[in-house]
Amino acid sequence: MEIAGAGALVVGGASGLGEATARALHARGARIVIADLNADKGRALAQELGADARFVGADVTQPDQLEAAVAAAAEADGGLRISMHCAGIGWAQKVASSRGAHDLQPFETVIAVNLVGTFNALRLAGAAMVANEPDAGGERGVMVNTASIAAYDGQVGQIAYSASKGGVVAMTLPAARDLAAAGIRVNTIAPGLFDTPLLAGLPEQARTALAASIPFPPRLGAPAEFAQLACHMAENAMLNGEVVRLDGALRMAPR
Ligand SMILES: NC(=O)c1ccc[n+]([C@@H]2O[C@H](COP(=O)([O-])OP(=O)(O)OC[C@H]3O[C@@H](n4cnc5c(N)ncnc54)[C@H](O)[C@@H]3O)[C@@H](O)[C@H]2O)c1
Repeated sequence: MEIAGAGALVVGGASGLGEATARALHARGARIVIADLNADKGRALAQELGADARFVGADVTQPDQLEAAVAAAAEADGGLRISMHCAGIGWAQKVASSRGAHDLQPFETVIAVNLVGTFNALRLAGAAMVANEPDAGGERGVMVNTASIAAYDGQVGQIAYSASKGGVVAMTLPAARDLAAAGIRVNTIAPGLFDTPLLAGLPEQARTALAASIPFPPRLGAPAEFAQLACHMAENAMLNGEVVRLDGALRMAPR
């Protein structure tokens, strides 16, 4: 899929990995819609990028809101061609401990945002893409989801987050299979540790320790490196139904 001139949606595009992806798509000539819960950051980013960048406030768990964001992105000539799904949240609690059982509500919320929210984006963006004219290679669209290496190496306290990201990993192949007949590809990135606002709140000592735990390169990933792979997944027509770990060979320890 050619990025230049394509209509693109970045869900969770106001911050961190999504922001870097929005910047990268825009720099390569896409006409982007940034959809996010955070209106202040999303609006400021769209304003900074200027032409061919818009912000639409949307909560991934709300079908109407996400549908409006998809519709805005589909207004581009040629329709919505690229949809990147980066919105996500975390929660830390053990399944049970001396303090009692894991609360049910936060587990449900993490699943609602990370898993159901990603499904919501897949189904709505997918439906918009089915209506596109195929390009010369027969492609109507491409989507990239964001999982985490916690889908595979969930640490102590990550049960809700790992379950949600495991679901995103597991949706990748059936989504690609469902949409193959329409010429729409679906891939997922499973990031390791990236330097985003999510980790910025940690003390410097903790950040250094995290970085040192990565075999090579022993540093936190740059959001631009995530965006680079997301753009490659959009561009490489042979890459489909795949989950790629982007983690510097990190395999997370239990804690
Ligand atoms: N940073 C890392 O090291 C890392 C590692 C693995 C996976 N991830 C995943 O990457 C994605 C991006 O994380 P990040 O580090 O850039 O975090 P971030 O907090 O900087 O960005 C997440 C964005 O998602 C938005 N968002 C959250 N809930 C939303 C909702 N209900 N509807 C719409 N938007 C919503 C936030 O407003 C924010 O702009 C997440 O899915 C996260 O789980 C991050």
